Amino acid sequence: MSDCNTRIIAPSMLASDWGAVRDEVVRADEAGADWIHLDVMDGHFVENISFGPQFVSAVRPHTELTLDVHLMITHPDKYLDSFIKAGSDRITVHVEADHNVSATLAAIRDAGHGCGLAFNPATPFEEVKPYLSQIDLLLVMTVVPGFGGQSFMAEETMPKVEAAKAFREENGLAYHIEVDGGIDAETVHIAGRHGANVMVAGTALYGKEDMAGAIQQMRE
Ligand code: DX5
Ligand code: ZN
Repeated sequence: MSDCNTRIIAPSMLASDWGAVRDEVVRADEAGADWIHLDVMDGHFVENISFGPQFVSAVRPHTELTLDVHLMITHPDKYLDSFIKAGSDRITVHVEADHNVSATLAAIRDAGHGCGLAFNPATPFEEVKPYLSQIDLLLVMTVVPGFGGQSFMAEETMPKVEAAKAFREENGLAYHIEVDGGIDAETVHIAGRHGANVMVAGTALYGKEDMAGAIQQMRE
């Protein structure tokens, strides 16, 4: 597991061409992505519906890259097994969803997978604090979840990235800090300066002809 000071670039397949899943997975892999981010949406926890475990199974055989699965669903605990069987490497669940957060995180970890906790722009950092010793990754949503192509919400979210970094250092923890939503060649550096190390980008990567160049720009 890479350390939380390594910058990780994770293209989100929400913005890929779903009619060419294999090509789009290979494209990200060959472009130098570190992880592939999969945005699962149930049309209940968020307004949009995307895909389920079968999409993860479709992606799995075409890459060795870490599959970073983001469950924007109301009952994530009910679907852990199917996402694990489908080939997920890491699973991130929302603190706002309807489940026993601690138990869900423990179940992901007990299954030997990276466990992540996500929280929305309107959710205060205090809400996730009780779980920070249990996770490998904290996902600070930088847009309201549900749709790609939105604008980065710096005001509401960068102070939370800073607070997460400070808490990690003060308490000798080691979770990644991931940001997701409106991440592009400019905002990636704002997020990095505040303490994020895992950068999820859909539009700014899958929307580019030269994904390798766009990923490189996100590393500098
Ligand atoms: C929001 C999704 C998006 C997606 C990336 O629910 O999670 O943030 O990953 O979207 P872009 O990079 O297109 O803003
Ligand atoms: Zn996501």
